[in-house]
Amino acid sequence: MASVVVVGSLNADLTVYCSRLPAPGETIAGTASEVGPGGKGANQAVAASLSGAGVALIGAVGDDSNGAMLRRAVTGAGVDVSRVRTIGNQASGMAIITVDDAAENTIVTTAGANGRLSARDVEEAGEVFRGARVVCLCLEVPREAVLAAALAGGSAGATVILNASPFGPLAPELLAAVDVLLVNAHEASQLLAGAPLPPASADDAAWAPIARGLAEAGVARAVVTLGGGGAVVLQGERGRADRAEVERIPALPVEPVDTTGAGDAFAGALAARLAAGDALGDAARYAAVAAALSTTGRGAQRSYPTREKVVSQEFPQTTAGGR
Ligand code: RIB
Ligand code: NA
Repeated sequence: MASVVVVGSLNADLTVYCSRLPAPGETIAGTASEVGPGGKGANQAVAASLSGAGVALIGAVGDDSNGAMLRRAVTGAGVDVSRVRTIGNQASGMAIITVDDAAENTIVTTAGANGRLSARDVEEAGEVFRGARVVCLCLEVPREAVLAAALAGGSAGATVILNASPFGPLAPELLAAVDVLLVNAHEASQLLAGAPLPPASADDAAWAPIARGLAEAGVARAVVTLGGGGAVVLQGERGRADRAEVERIPALPVEPVDTTGAGDAFAGALAARLAAGDALGDAARYAAVAAALSTTGRGAQRSYPTREKVVSQEFPQTTAGGR
């Protein structure tokens, strides 16, 4: 039985590596190209499975060769894809990605079949939520499917994680159904109406107002990822300015070559460790190492580490007063 249920997207990632990113209107020669499995939902599912969880994915692909490739990749990583629907006369989701020598990237996606995932698809998969301890969500599929999944997870007593990416408006109804919000600094700032976020090096006192702001927005527990700066776990309480907890998660130092899908690696690893019973801070510590390791290889899913590889690393320690 699946302890983690992921509801989200599957995309064929067409990546071109180049020494620098092109300017608008410019044509440049790349150095290599790859077609690989991606999409935030599929990436999260694979990351969770490699971290040892039993995982079921709910999603949709088209009846094209990319759809078959995506299904194979996720199945190969041990994920149950029996609730990934294949839609006739429909292209699969796709992402066009450029990555430069500094591991900087640009990504443009087309939803394809992902755009047709409905609340009904989620409801029809109802029984899979019964055994779930964690439900993991992203915003690359229609909001009605995300909300239906969050509600199904909540009724089943599962912890609902929302990786609010790509960022967009979040209905209060959805936020109320989410237990842990996972965002990067840019997304956290957008959720707080553009409020600037402290730098990764800032001390805990600088983060407390962010925890309180998120609590006022309806988010009691959040993990804010800071790339090479690690992450912070924030827990606040609505209307209680004195109640804000900040936990620093240090980054594993790595030389990144491709950061595509690092956030999804974080989300999936976090889901797996929460499903295994870890506290949020411990799960985030593990997830930060998994995400850092993913950036040392090309592509998204293909670069994700196994649990063995993650636990064989020497985890960075939090030093007093912050990082
Ligand atoms: O988060 C990374 C993912 O975003 C890529 O795999 C790509 O498919 C886009 O959806
Ligand atoms: Na990678």
